Amino acid sequence: MTRAYNFSPGPCGLPDSVMQRAQAEFLEFAETQTSVMEISHRGKDFLKVYNNAVRLLREIMDISDDYAVLFLSGGATGQSAAIPLNLTASSDDTTAYIISGHWSQRSAVEGKKYCHTHIAADNTGNGHTILPSEWDVPENAAYLHYADNETVHGVEFSTRPDSFVPLVADMSSNIASRRINVSDYGLIYAGAQKNLGPTGVTVVIVRKELIRARSDVPMIWDYKNQIPAESMLNTPPTFQIYMVSLVLEWVKNEGGIDEMEKRCVEKAKLLYSCIDAGNFYTAPAQIGNRSRTSIPFFLADDVLTGDFVAGAEKEGMIGLKGHALLGGCRACMYNSMSVAGAQQLVEYMREFERKHG
Ligand SMILES: Cc1ncc(COP(=O)(O)O)c(C=O)c1O
Repeated sequence: MTRAYNFSPGPCGLPDSVMQRAQAEFLEFAETQTSVMEISHRGKDFLKVYNNAVRLLREIMDISDDYAVLFLSGGATGQSAAIPLNLTASSDDTTAYIISGHWSQRSAVEGKKYCHTHIAADNTGNGHTILPSEWDVPENAAYLHYADNETVHGVEFSTRPDSFVPLVADMSSNIASRRINVSDYGLIYAGAQKNLGPTGVTVVIVRKELIRARSDVPMIWDYKNQIPAESMLNTPPTFQIYMVSLVLEWVKNEGGIDEMEKRCVEKAKLLYSCIDAGNFYTAPAQIGNRSRTSIPFFLADDVLTGDFVAGAEKEGMIGLKGHALLGGCRACMYNSMSVAGAQQLVEYMREFERKHG
């Protein structure tokens, strides 16, 4: 069996040991005589899985009891609506958004349907290659939303934005890849399909005191009711939550977030050193704002891009085609990508440059 190094933006590769464990337990989970995807979400066996996932996330990210942890459906995109609906009291309230790329832009557009949104900063003018360094936030804003890592444009905040109102962070593509102080945030959310597991479940970590009681929140995203219901106001994505629990266990056993961060920095350094070594490859993001986990890059001669991607696939490296908005290539290296995978990509890039440069 050959498993490729998967550089896709998400869904992406998951650790082999996680996949093997899921495979081993697939037909018969624990003492249940059936698969984990076939048991009731209300039964004690699944509740154990659910509680284990919550406990592991709390432990790994050091999340205090002031925060609720939810596993919801609808992706990070669903949260673009759920967040304003849960953190404002009415559609008359104001929220603030930093636009730093494709995903934060989408969140702001969606958020605007449910309250007043103030654009606190916008880097569209520089093609989302340089992160905003200043933002103006109305005093009455319910929160300041930003994307910690822009998966398409490849820019990442190295430290959180300063904010006197609660900070809401989209960490879909870099959650659990570096140590953060959760208590600095009002809410953190992430689609699981990059750093935490398969697609189909979204993690929401929310400071409970910020939740308001709007009556027009769709039930499945209603935090105040989902918290006592343990994310089970509807049938939750049980298999996905199980997979997240396995990935979190893997993170813990590998050395936790500090180890993930160390590897993340090492992988990014390998790739950027290769890109910066000459003029054959370029990365659009400004140095200092570059993402460690999702790295778009271009070949000097775009005609070669197709061959580059196809050649990589032949050598067991998939998912390198760039996002449609930018073209070129993109290498996403989430927690499950090994340093060896980054090394293999860099060797391939050097060889390709030798042949075509
Ligand atoms: C930073 C970021 N936010 C939001 C999303 C949307 O996530 P979902 O597909 O889970 O709705 C993505 C998807 O790639 C993303 O990278």
